[in-house]
Amino acid sequence: MARKPIVVGNWKMNKTIAETKAFVAAVDDKLNDKADWGIATPYLDLPAAKEAKHLIVAAEDMHFKDSGAYTGAVSAAMLKEIGVDWTILGHSERRQYFGETDETVNLKMLQALKNGINPIVCVGESEAQYDAGETHDVVKTQVVAAYKDVAKEDVEKTVIAYEPIWAIGTGKTATNEIAQDVCGYIRSVVAELYGQETADKVRIQYGGSVKPNTIKELLAQPDIDGALVGGASLKEDSYLAMVAAL
Ligand code: G3H
Repeated sequence: MARKPIVVGNWKMNKTIAETKAFVAAVDDKLNDKADWGIATPYLDLPAAKEAKHLIVAAEDMHFKDSGAYTGAVSAAMLKEIGVDWTILGHSERRQYFGETDETVNLKMLQALKNGINPIVCVGESEAQYDAGETHDVVKTQVVAAYKDVAKEDVEKTVIAYEPIWAIGTGKTATNEIAQDVCGYIRSVVAELYGQETADKVRIQYGGSVKPNTIKELLAQPDIDGALVGGASLKEDSYLAMVAAL
């Protein structure tokens, strides 16, 4: 079945409010309907990003509790109040530097869906796991954990981003074959959990050193329905080069 691609730039800890406004002014009117186009920005930039009429705007994380003594955290209600209804969850940098676990990713998935926020849940193996041939096992464990107690009717609101850690910010894009193999495998895991019909509706992104000159071929793979893009999403001309490439 046809799935509309979704391409989201993950800005990580980059760009000020002024830079966000300049990006939106330069990019928002130049998108096309070949994909759903978006940006995930630092919390402080979100209101400026929401001035966009066309770009999907996502947070980069969200807490799993409604409110309370969680210094530095941002809740689903706070995101909804400013009109943000997408968030990345479980990015490998959150897992590596901020103690994110499969369990907290799952709690955040449930909290996001309960509050009408669409999660982009990230999975992916380290270089050592890749070298040891453990990629399928690692992503299966992460997907099964992330979707624990997620209702079947909510699954199509979610997006899964396959991001091999060894390909993030390294310039080492996974080959189209590797990316397709793992994204296809992830779809088979979703089919085991929820059935093929549901699995066929879920959009699966690839992320890891995606560039304007690689995005088209990656998205031409049958199980790759978009990209989560770091570095190449930061500059207006590079983002627009990806738009033009599809
Ligand atoms: O979320 C995005 C990824 O971490 C990829 O980052 O495109 O800079 O490799 P990158």
